[in-house]
Amino acid sequence: MDRLTALLPWMDGHTVLLDVGTDHARLPMEAIKHTSIQKAYASDNKKGPLKVAKTRVIEARLENVITVLEGDGLAVLKDDVDVVTIAGLGGSLIQSMLLKDDLKNVDTLIIQPTNKVSSIRALTNLLPWMIVDEIITVDKAIPYISLLLKKGCMPMTDKEVLFGKALIARKDPAYRELLVQDLTFLNTLLSQIPDGKAPEKMRAKQTLIKEILDDWT
Ligand SMILES: C[S@@+](CC[C@H](N)C(=O)[O-])C[C@H]1O[C@@H](n2cnc3c(N)ncnc32)[C@H](O)[C@@H]1O
Repeated sequence: MDRLTALLPWMDGHTVLLDVGTDHARLPMEAIKHTSIQKAYASDNKKGPLKVAKTRVIEARLENVITVLEGDGLAVLKDDVDVVTIAGLGGSLIQSMLLKDDLKNVDTLIIQPTNKVSSIRALTNLLPWMIVDEIITVDKAIPYISLLLKKGCMPMTDKEVLFGKALIARKDPAYRELLVQDLTFLNTLLSQIPDGKAPEKMRAKQTLIKEILDDWT
């Protein structure tokens, strides 16, 4: 399945979207066409992607409903936005964006990081946001994890921060495959480290993955 299309159902019920790091502006265009979103801002901090976004929006004749904005992260956020999407950026960068700026009237965040998903989950122990759903989408053989966050508080355990409560519960075969790959990689690494010298974090991660896989039915 297409990784961006997979995010559309989470936008339903919202009216104004900000897509941060929009590049080609495909996500806001799809949102306008296929969800309840009536107006969108498509932002990027680089001239090249901004030019592409503007061209694509005009070609699709959506310039009346999609505004292309230049700016860094959430600094461009307007008061009328109720949902923000951030896809295709690294987890640490997204984490710093969410820590830095006020989220004004946004009540829903849809995040699809390219890596370090746990750095976004960990934020829910620091900010008044909670993760209400997670999905895994395999697009052109690459697995992408997407997170749906709502305003609220739901503290997470270390296991949930590392592996995602909703993903563990969902038991998607694609997630099992990813966990098996992670475990194989960890086992190989640990087999090369002399006894007693392996970092405790690595051993703990290995134990948690084994625990999740043992519970898989
Ligand atoms: C790999 S593209 C992802 C495009 C699209 N969101 C997607 O998922 O296909 C990342 C985009 O984020 C933009 N970007 C990187 N850092 C940014 C920042 N701090 N603020 C806004 N945009 C940023 C880049 O210029 C690039 O266009």
